[in-house]
Amino acid sequence: MKRSTRASILAAFLLFTHFTLSIAAGDSITPIQPLRDGQTIVSPSGTFELGFFKPGASNKLYVGICYHNLPRTYVWVANRDDPLVNDTGGILTIRDGRLALLNQGGGVVWSSKGATNATDPIARVQDDGNFVLTDSTGALAWQSFDYPTDTLLSGMKFGWDLKTGLNRNLTSWRSLDDPSSGDYSTYMDVHGSPQPKLFKRSTLTYRSGPWNGLYFSGIPEMKTYDKFIYEVVQNSTDVYYTCRVKQSNIITRLIVNQSGVVQRFVWLDEQQIWNLIWFGPKDPCDDYGKCGPNGLCDTDEIPLCDCLKGFERKTPKDWYLREASDGCVRKTALDCGSDGFAVISGVKVPDTSTSTVDRAMSLDECRGKCLKNCSCTAYAAADIGSGSGCVMWYGGNLTDTRSYRDGGQEIYLKLAASDLMDLPLFDLSTIVMATDNFSNANKIGEGGFGLVYKGKLEGDQEIAVKRLSRNSTQGVDEFKNEVMLIAKLQHRNLVRLLGCCTEGDERMLIYEYMPNKSLDTFLFDVIRRSCLDWRRRYNIILGIARGLVYLHQDSRFRIIHRDLKVSNILLDKEMNPKISDFGMARIFRGDHGEANTRRVVGTYGYMSPEYAMDGIFSVKSDVFSFGVLVLEIMSGKKNRGVYRSQANMNLLTHAWMLWKEGNALELLDVSMGYSSPIEAMRCIQTGLLCVQEQVEDRPMMPFVVMMLSSETIVLPQPRQPGFYNGGNHFQQDWPTDRKQESSCSANGITMTLIEAR
Ligand SMILES: *[C@@H]1O[C@H](CO)[C@@H](O)[C@H](O)[C@H]1NC(C)=O
Ligand SMILES: *[C@@H]1O[C@H](CO)[C@@H](O)[C@H](O)[C@H]1NC(C)=O
Ligand SMILES: *[C@@H]1O[C@H](CO)[C@@H](O)[C@H](O)[C@H]1NC(C)=O
Ligand SMILES: *[C@@H]1O[C@H](CO)[C@@H](O)[C@H](O)[C@H]1NC(C)=O
Ligand SMILES: *[C@@H]1O[C@H](CO)[C@@H](O)[C@H](O)[C@H]1NC(C)=O
Ligand SMILES: *[C@@H]1O[C@H](CO)[C@@H](O)[C@H](O)[C@H]1NC(C)=O
Ligand SMILES: *[C@@H]1O[C@H](CO)[C@@H](O)[C@H](O)[C@H]1NC(C)=O
Ligand SMILES: *[C@@H]1O[C@H](CO)[C@@H](O)[C@H](O)[C@H]1NC(C)=O
Ligand SMILES: *[C@@H]1O[C@H](CO)[C@@H](O)[C@H](O)[C@H]1NC(C)=O
Ligand SMILES: *[C@@H]1O[C@H](CO)[C@@H](O)[C@H](O)[C@H]1NC(C)=O
Repeated sequence: MKRSTRASILAAFLLFTHFTLSIAAGDSITPIQPLRDGQTIVSPSGTFELGFFKPGASNKLYVGICYHNLPRTYVWVANRDDPLVNDTGGILTIRDGRLALLNQGGGVVWSSKGATNATDPIARVQDDGNFVLTDSTGALAWQSFDYPTDTLLSGMKFGWDLKTGLNRNLTSWRSLDDPSSGDYSTYMDVHGSPQPKLFKRSTLTYRSGPWNGLYFSGIPEMKTYDKFIYEVVQNSTDVYYTCRVKQSNIITRLIVNQSGVVQRFVWLDEQQIWNLIWFGPKDPCDDYGKCGPNGLCDTDEIPLCDCLKGFERKTPKDWYLREASDGCVRKTALDCGSDGFAVISGVKVPDTSTSTVDRAMSLDECRGKCLKNCSCTAYAAADIGSGSGCVMWYGGNLTDTRSYRDGGQEIYLKLAASDLMDLPLFDLSTIVMATDNFSNANKIGEGGFGLVYKGKLEGDQEIAVKRLSRNSTQGVDEFKNEVMLIAKLQHRNLVRLLGCCTEGDERMLIYEYMPNKSLDTFLFDVIRRSCLDWRRRYNIILGIARGLVYLHQDSRFRIIHRDLKVSNILLDKEMNPKISDFGMARIFRGDHGEANTRRVVGTYGYMSPEYAMDGIFSVKSDVFSFGVLVLEIMSGKKNRGVYRSQANMNLLTHAWMLWKEGNALELLDVSMGYSSPIEAMRCIQTGLLCVQEQVEDRPMMPFVVMMLSSETIVLPQPRQPGFYNGGNHFQQDWPTDRKQESSCSANGITMTLIEAR
């Protein structure tokens, strides 16, 4: 009641609505009980209502469905292109087994496509917003869900019934107060691997990419919306997408708006507003074919356009002027004999209308088949969740590929052997020369896996050499295979592996050198910490989060780092963060591998409670460590310090107490200078959400990235952090019997867990 009063007040303010006091006609329409202008029918639980309306100041009368208890938003219009104009009254009835809209003279201005022969047809609005025409047994003759306007409601299908040729698509309103068919429409393209496409009249403007088992390839953020269940059916009779809500009290709708943007809203009851949670196209790289054939668009690069690996600019002059529509051509023609594949990670796959799909194939079979067929140019997993299935591209050009910072999938490009860069194997002599025979002067670090040296290759390229201790019993081939796998994990927030060296019993990994060392050399240094101003700290936090999303979800393995800490975050020359040591467990699978998995490893102060106490680890343990990192970066303090007028407290307790008192901003490190209070609060709140005691309360990393980077997302309230000591008395962070084990990790043993997908 409170809600509907408020809703009505709000509705009065909405421009595009025509607010009349409607008289309910009951709950159904029959041939002898038609619906007249001024009357409405309402769904059984009162969710939706159907009635006549005149949008804005229009003199045109329409029949439509809107929410009954929310501000009037029309989700379906029967006669969008056949309005009643200057009419004093319309009638919606059932005539000849069809729904028919009559003008004052009794002429039919609109009628439904489907008809029923039954003698007792009846039309009702259901609680899901579907307007259905049935006979008395309930047999369906026609439903509004098959003829969407501009809106997709929960449970509505978007796509094809291939048996009848019914294409359920969305077309925008012409303007805010004109529901007639506008310029923009979106439908499911069923050529090749099906993908939704958006058109301005007949021009393709945006493509969401094919379904990859978890999300549409061009909408990686879909997987972060845990309130929805997506269903995508692709078989010989049906090709459609539906989104359902997990709880019936969640109200959501997706529309194509008048300026050609697809938007998804969720109704927020407390604020009484429609919250925009997603829209697309979003940025220039979403513009269809932005970088031309075989181009790769990346919003983080200037210019945006580059060529796919193994391709070069067709006309370099145009590119210089940032005109990329000409695109790229192969450097070396394929010879259909010695060709191989290069993997590109973190992308929206190219237009699949020239592809084929086989969901039964494994990825290896896919590779084999693509290699054999000379016209195959690329392949990818059809289902990235299980890493199986096969999409293969044929023929000429790969179009509309873009890369993502967060998310995105992998595609394998077929290239001539000379355009593939295999992972370089370095000679021992090269490394000896580069590191001055592993001189002490070149030693830059020491960890459980061995020593780290700085080196300089000919041509002055600086490298970091990790010389693994000799405990590993792994064979050379196995080691090389693993290095190859890990080298393929590529993300701008992971330290890049350049190659390896195996000679005798030496095992070395060669990384790019990070001139600004590790984060702790800034953060916990009285002088250098002032280099970390607010903008830098925020970028570092976001970068680490993005690297973790990649490790947890987007690479070919599901990787749990297990030893995230400030000293494992390296900084490049622009102070971008790079996570290091993320593949060490796989590389270092020696005698200790087994024992280590049973032993709790990690670093004191960063381990989640369930991991420290029960040895249970999951991606959520990394989330916990990440939260500690965030709070350390914001406060410039170590988690294990002593705070607040002598009371012994860890940082988490300190931050939590400040948060509860409403003084969270007091946590901020003064040496960062100016910070935006709203953004700083967002970071602290996100940090606290990550260190919550209960595993299930902690967010997944993709959602963390969203919370950090979106200004509109409403953040949940954090609950008590792990290792909260109540703030009154000293309490040890860890049960003592674990201390022994964690101390061995404190001197640097790291352990990363990698599961092949
Ligand atoms: C509707 O009425 C308006 C104003 O009386 C008039 O200008 C217009 O031509 C009419 N339209 C039709 C289709 O009769
Ligand atoms: C309607 O009646 C016609 C002829 O009586 C019949 O051919 C048709 O199958 C019927 N349609 C339905 C939907 O019952
Ligand atoms: C969209 O759906 C309508 C109604 O089914 C149909 O008439 C129209 O042709 C469809 N548009 C496209 C582009 O398929
Ligand atoms: C396709 O999928 C739909 C929905 O699951 C199902 O109803 C239909 O029978 C399927 N068709 C075939 C040919 O498997
Ligand atoms: C369409 O959606 C975009 C993105 O949310 C928004 O910027 C634009 O104003 C919307 N257009 C209309 C007419 O609502
Ligand atoms: C390669 O694949 C294409 C597309 O599926 C097919 O038309 C062609 O026959 C195949 N060629 C060979 C040699 O198998
Ligand atoms: C590939 O793109 C080039 C433009 O760079 C175009 O000339 C060519 O026709 C395209 N090939 C195919 C098969 O579409
Ligand atoms: C490098 O040092 C090792 C032992 O420290 C020594 O045996 C070897 O001869 C040195 N190699 C070169 C090329 O100086
Ligand atoms: C490697 O072996 C040495 C000597 O056996 C031992 O001291 C060291 O702890 C081992 N390192 C690791 C990482 O297990
Ligand atoms: C980071 O390293 C680069 C290259 O060595 C240097 O120019 C820059 O000043 C360093 N940044 C900071 C904040 O120290």
